[in-house]
Amino acid sequence: MIRTHTCGELRITDVNKNVQLTGWVQRRRDLGNLTFIDLRDRYGITQLVFSTEINKDLLEKARDIHREYVIQITGIVRERENKNPNLPTGDIEIVVQELKILNPSLTPPFTIEDNTDGGEELRMTFRYLDLRRNPLKNNLILRHKLALETRKYLDSLGFLEIETPFLIKSTPEGARDFVVPSRMHKGTFYALPQSPQTFKQILMVAGYDRYFQIVRCFRDEDLRADRQPEFTQIDCEMSFVEREDILQTFEGLIRHLFKSVKGIELPKFLRMSYEDAMNFYGSDKPDLRFDMKFVHLTNVFKNKGFKVFDSAEIIVGINLKQQAQATRKQIDEWTEFAKSPKVGSSGLIYIKYNEDGSIKSSIDKFFTTEQLKEVLEISNAQPGDLILILAGEKIKTLKGMGQLRLHIAHQLNLIPTNTYACLWVVDFPLFEYDEEEQRWVSMHHPFTSPIGDLSGNIADIKANAYDMVINGTEVGGGSIRIHNKEIQKKVFELLGFTEEEAMRQFGFLMNAFEYGAPPHGGIAFGFDRLTALLCGVDSIRDVIAFPKNNAGKDTMIDAPSEINPKQLEELGLIIDPNVYKN
Ligand code: AMO
Repeated sequence: MIRTHTCGELRITDVNKNVQLTGWVQRRRDLGNLTFIDLRDRYGITQLVFSTEINKDLLEKARDIHREYVIQITGIVRERENKNPNLPTGDIEIVVQELKILNPSLTPPFTIEDNTDGGEELRMTFRYLDLRRNPLKNNLILRHKLALETRKYLDSLGFLEIETPFLIKSTPEGARDFVVPSRMHKGTFYALPQSPQTFKQILMVAGYDRYFQIVRCFRDEDLRADRQPEFTQIDCEMSFVEREDILQTFEGLIRHLFKSVKGIELPKFLRMSYEDAMNFYGSDKPDLRFDMKFVHLTNVFKNKGFKVFDSAEIIVGINLKQQAQATRKQIDEWTEFAKSPKVGSSGLIYIKYNEDGSIKSSIDKFFTTEQLKEVLEISNAQPGDLILILAGEKIKTLKGMGQLRLHIAHQLNLIPTNTYACLWVVDFPLFEYDEEEQRWVSMHHPFTSPIGDLSGNIADIKANAYDMVINGTEVGGGSIRIHNKEIQKKVFELLGFTEEEAMRQFGFLMNAFEYGAPPHGGIAFGFDRLTALLCGVDSIRDVIAFPKNNAGKDTMIDAPSEINPKQLEELGLIIDPNVYKN
């Protein structure tokens, strides 16, 4: 060891000890015949002192040391005159007797401090410098603890962590695959797993009745703050269980994680059907930290002679408590938001219930005061409240109102911090219509078990699927699987697969199911999302050591990048090698 202690370790009880420290220079302060250096490592910061009184040459040498130099010092611990109560090592300093520069450093493009000035792009390119900062460091430490506690908890329940391959065949998660060309079998490709879904189900057939894996997944989809092309799941599967067993077991996991890592006792998990989530919050992942539940006004307003309402499939409102005093400008801004592509409504209607009991609305011309009063009553409005209304096609209007609800809640600071609103969204539709592809697709994946049988209207068939939602983030999702060959066959049929297509894509799973598949089900959590939630950050990039930027690139290593023509040729990816010769 070339150090006796870390930079976060020494205390007043260590005074007079002879110590050796190593680390990075956080900053240097020169004061007359004194120089102070803050020495930093992963564990903390310790102050070093150089003075003419102790050693003039050493002081000169120290003054040649700059930010981020890696140094090693030997010295004596002494009590500080000016103690720093904000630093765990703030009672002491090291009087340096020997100094060695282990490596100099260029001046970093941004300072390594908590609130750094470097822009996102720069910080991504110099990720190793960004990772020296406390915010990212603390996030990675928390992530490590979460992984550790996940393993402890699941191990205590008899789960086995089993690895599954990365070079596989297309999986059915619904995003695009990343593919890897095969050199040995030119013209053929592996796909990187979007999840270990099929393998974990095969493990159930193999008898490993409690499986989990903290595993990387790959999806070629558009990026957002909560999406990365490669991300990590806590992937789990159990045999001989029903939905309730899964919900209990994994609610337990999440409770354990919050409690053990952050000391947070989570409140009760609510349960809400997909239908209610959509109807009352316009989202399949409602943020229940605040209320603003939708009120349905179709019956009151429709067919009363107002064209906008009469032509609408649905009319919904939200009650903004104590917002009747909202200005024209404010309402205009909300109207613009309602008209933006995010919501896509033709306009926004308001009813102000003024403090003095009077009513003012943008539809005064079309409705009587009595009719408007009825709306206020349904909306549970008190004097001082403001009702905002959207009308139009059902799903679009509900989702649009969901967006408006979130927008306003953020804008008006209606979302309490440090609270956790947890729920299970259940009873999803089994299928949804994909407008682009003009066909029915699985909402979850094709191995999800239906609730009841598969007869009747395809849009009405419910899935035995569930999502865990915390503070409006989908942190996990799963389902009870089909283990009956006939039902599986029928689902593929409804998805428009021919028997041959289904066999070609998923034959390996269907074959495995011929050899005694137990009833089973599972769930996968987005580990990055869960970590971001616990770290209190908005983007999962802040909880991943080396993430891709929002254009899907790693600017530090410059990926994706071209590969040389020889490699392309070896992989059978060049049709005419001459193209690349000049
Ligand atoms: P699903 O596709 O719902 O289910 O994924 C499970 C969880 O993974 C997280 N997640 C992501 N996180 C970051 N970036 C992404 N691109 C991304 N995509 C998904 C979400 C999501 O809830 N095999 C099934 C699970 C099962 O049925 O057991 C699956 O992958 O938090």
